Amino acid sequence: MKKNVVLITGGATRLAKEIAISLTENNYLVVVHYNSSKKEAINLKESLGDKCEIIQYDFLSNHTKSFFNDVLNIFGRLDYIINAASIFTKQGLDEIDDELLIKYNVIHSYVPLLLTNYLYEDLLKKERIGAVINITDAGLENPSLNRVPYYLSKESLSFQTRLLAKELSPIVRVNEIAPGLIMASHADKSYFSKMETKNKMGIGNSYDIINTILYLLKANYVTGEKIKVDGGLYF
Ligand SMILES: NC(=O)c1ccc[n+]([C@@H]2O[C@H](COP(=O)([O-])OP(=O)(O)OC[C@H]3O[C@@H](n4cnc5c(N)ncnc54)[C@H](OP(=O)(O)O)[C@@H]3O)[C@@H](O)[C@H]2O)c1
Repeated sequence: MKKNVVLITGGATRLAKEIAISLTENNYLVVVHYNSSKKEAINLKESLGDKCEIIQYDFLSNHTKSFFNDVLNIFGRLDYIINAASIFTKQGLDEIDDELLIKYNVIHSYVPLLLTNYLYEDLLKKERIGAVINITDAGLENPSLNRVPYYLSKESLSFQTRLLAKELSPIVRVNEIAPGLIMASHADKSYFSKMETKNKMGIGNSYDIINTILYLLKANYVTGEKIKVDGGLYF
């Protein structure tokens, strides 16, 4: 039997990289998408060997259809997409402009929407089924005005999860994972250590997300669901 192929966007670094590694350990073939992290992507490919291929694409360059076709050609099939590529900067209402809002929406919502639709068209033609997992953020439960473009565009990704789950069923299942505090960036380190003691379940780790992904990839009767993986941070 042929192995299933997963595209993971933004997969050369941090959390999505850990997900990519784990998928190869669980019998999946992985296409790791990257934008600027070429060195990290090449290192990952070298360590994972034949189970992994890498592909570069800047989501802001408006060639998503040809990117999708290139992904499809790598292993000759695509079964699953994990939409993880993201940007995360602090901007209050007084700092935002058209360009920034468009950028966030393209990366977090428009490209995932196109990729999901292209996957649907391909699987429909080939009479196969697949799934998409959108990675959003548990912080959508309590968004802050510090990151207006981030929360607006992630909420749009969350909304499209439900919308597409209905439309694309039963060919493509579409689900959402909303992580809480999992992997701190440089700027977040002090906030994470404060929350480590404040949240009764502390900080999560990449396996908390990976286990949920492994479940959703195989959950053939589950679609349109959001699973918060946040150690009870937001109820
Ligand atoms: N880390 C956490 O604790 C946490 C918490 C809540 C939600 N999440 C979500 O989980 C996912 C993974 O988290 P993370 O912290 O590992 O993500 P991250 O470091 O913020 O970024 C993921 C990737 O997005 C890619 N990216 C950025 N701009 C792009 C563009 N213009 N075109 C294409 N790709 C682009 C980057 O690729 P290159 O490096 O190749 O440029 C980067 O590797 C994200 O969706 C994030 O929002 C994470």
